[in-house]
Amino acid sequence: MARGKAKDGDGNWKKFIWNSEKKELLGRTGGSWFKILLFYVIFYGCLAGIFIGTIQVMLLTVSEFEPKYQDRVAPPGLTQVPQVQKTEISFTASDSKSYEPYVKNLEKFLKDYSADQQTENIVFQDCGDMPTDYKDRGPYSDTQGQKKVCKFKREWLENCSGIQDPTFGYKDGKPCILVKLNRIIGFKPKAPANESLPAEVMAKYNPYLIPVHCAPKRDEDADKIGTVEYYGMGGYSGFALQYYPYYGKLLQPRYLQPLVAVQFTNLTYDVEVRVECRAYGQNIQYSDKDRFQGRFDIKFDIRSS
Ligand SMILES: *[C@@H]1O[C@H](CO)[C@@H](O)[C@H](O)[C@H]1NC(C)=O
Ligand SMILES: *[C@@H]1O[C@H](CO)[C@@H](O)[C@H](O)[C@H]1NC(C)=O
Ligand SMILES: *[C@@H]1O[C@H](CO)[C@@H](O)[C@H](O)[C@H]1NC(C)=O
Repeated sequence: MARGKAKDGDGNWKKFIWNSEKKELLGRTGGSWFKILLFYVIFYGCLAGIFIGTIQVMLLTVSEFEPKYQDRVAPPGLTQVPQVQKTEISFTASDSKSYEPYVKNLEKFLKDYSADQQTENIVFQDCGDMPTDYKDRGPYSDTQGQKKVCKFKREWLENCSGIQDPTFGYKDGKPCILVKLNRIIGFKPKAPANESLPAEVMAKYNPYLIPVHCAPKRDEDADKIGTVEYYGMGGYSGFALQYYPYYGKLLQPRYLQPLVAVQFTNLTYDVEVRVECRAYGQNIQYSDKDRFQGRFDIKFDIRSS
């Protein structure tokens, strides 16, 4: 009895899939299935068409060379080389192994700044030895091919260039760091209005310069930071305006960011000294949320043995 019923159910189920009397598949005739298929082909075809059309229109209005929504880009970050975890530089001057990673990182970064990397006159332009005004290089398109970039002489970094001292001061317990402003296409940093600046920055004011200054982060470190030396173009501690605006990777593949080298020549050993470096400009803001916007913190811990 139970078996028969099961068989019956089985038959119904098969009939549901394919009813040979009415020639129906899953309860529909071939013509009905065809209409459904046709509907979905047209429906999805239209969806795809709308999608592709939208993307096309979007692409037409976007330049390959210049970001469309430039005004939404956050103000530039200020960062340092060597790039260190937990932004701490900790080493023993007498132990070359302890500072080797920092030296390697600096050396690698500065490779592109060597004189022998800047010999091609179709790529590099001599932009002088002193800060001057912005260098506009025309529209953000490649109708004139790639654009030139300003040379940056590694010698300007003097004792932090790695040329005379390949350990960048680390072997003497006088560590160098390099400071750079992150690249933003089309961004023109504005020199600061001069009233708000620290006295040391004011003393070397130049209207074509974005000054950089490092100071103790905490008041109790004021007597531990020692002398801070700055090296940069023309002896200025800052980024010269002729390196801006940056035209992007496609138009200036070999762009060199201007650098400032900062050397701490008399840091107190065996204590943690926290330093904050800042760039000053009218359109360079600081934010408590983003610790790298226009400034950064770094900790030094030099061990005497
Ligand atoms: C650079 O290094 C040389 C040699 O160590 C030293 O005599 C000179 O005072 C240093 N320059 C600065 C500005 O510290
Ligand atoms: C900055 O200082 C110079 C002279 O030191 C002065 O002529 C100029 O007006 C000052 N600019 C501002 C914006 O205060
Ligand atoms: C280095 O700093 C110490 C105090 O931390 C000071 O006594 C010494 O004179 C400084 N040396 C130089 C060369 O400035």
